[in-house]
Amino acid sequence: MRTQVGIIGAGPAGLILAQLLHLQGIDSVILERKSKDKIEGTVKAGILEQTTIDILREIGVGDRMDREGHFHNGNYFQFNGQRRHIDLKKYSGGKQVVVYPQHEVIIDLVNARYNNGKDIIFDVENVTLHDIDTENPKIRYCKNGMDEELVCDFIAGCDGYHGPSRQAIPESIRKEHLHMYKDGWLGILSDSAPAADELIYANHDQGFALLSTRTPILQRHYLQVDPHDDIANWSDDRIWTELTERTKTNDGWQVPDGPINSKGIIQMRSFICETMQYGRLFIAGDAAHTVPPTGAKGLNLAATDVKVMAKGITEYYRSGESDVLDRYSEICLRRVWKAERFSHFMTHLLHANSSYDSFQRGIQLTELDYYTSSEAGLRMIAENYVGLPIEWEKAENLKILK
Ligand code: PHB
Repeated sequence: MRTQVGIIGAGPAGLILAQLLHLQGIDSVILERKSKDKIEGTVKAGILEQTTIDILREIGVGDRMDREGHFHNGNYFQFNGQRRHIDLKKYSGGKQVVVYPQHEVIIDLVNARYNNGKDIIFDVENVTLHDIDTENPKIRYCKNGMDEELVCDFIAGCDGYHGPSRQAIPESIRKEHLHMYKDGWLGILSDSAPAADELIYANHDQGFALLSTRTPILQRHYLQVDPHDDIANWSDDRIWTELTERTKTNDGWQVPDGPINSKGIIQMRSFICETMQYGRLFIAGDAAHTVPPTGAKGLNLAATDVKVMAKGITEYYRSGESDVLDRYSEICLRRVWKAERFSHFMTHLLHANSSYDSFQRGIQLTELDYYTSSEAGLRMIAENYVGLPIEWEKAENLKILK
């Protein structure tokens, strides 16, 4: 089998890329390890920033998001039992975010793919990459017990943190930055009323809490916990007691509760792979970087990576010009580092830290006070939360990109 772009992974990165390429008349084949039901049913994050909203509309898959998503103009930061409103729209020059869960985005993208008359090859095993430093890179895989080979012009590695694509970049030219946080998040879905009109990020001595939402009758909330804790230690009662304590306000407000229908614990980590390209292989999304969820950036970074990749590939086929493709990693990483910085900042600003002395705790509260009251602070939070622009020009003086 032969195609122009072989895409490994049918997550947001792979599916958005396929649609961007299709609109430019460029052919692709998508290979996915999981089943269709699995990718359309897994609960993940829920916030799309303005940059992603724009991309989904541009590629013609924004209709259901526009109809069913919950658009927010701001959010709340809470500390010392008081809530401060961050007017994201006002401080970002009119931009918004939308609560529209990742699996809904996946469903819309899969439908778009089928409407284009194109397929996705699900349930593939033993994916390996070959000849990526030649003009005919290949992907070998196994489907229904048969060994298959896909010959491509380019390979897009959109196969997540554990996928084989990143490993195909020779170790000698790959610099990986991994930072583990000592905290995890316990996430729940509950049949309860929305806590508020917008998300609440709460700092509390007992630990951080986030009150998010999915629909008017289904809520998504999170608690800072030990990442090694066993979910069996967290009864529904204990979860609601903690959520109530950490998010209640001085004027007596309490989070509405209800039956919890799913719960789980994730570890927080920051990870960046420099470089994001080698020969004809380009990696995107979680294959190249992961963020802690505090800044709500994961899916959004995947979307902008493939926007850059699609532009580079399109220019290459149109005019033979490879400037954007040659600088793919540089362009993406400049923005990735900024999103990592913001996610790291939000994590430290909002989470309780048992090793802090009273001075450090005082500084943390003062940072919360400063960022939520100064015009400069509010602008910093707003422009990052709604998504920074892609910077296409050369960044000569950025040491970090070597
Ligand atoms: C979510 O609703 O899943 C969510 C929202 C905001 C975050 C992280 C997760 O920062």
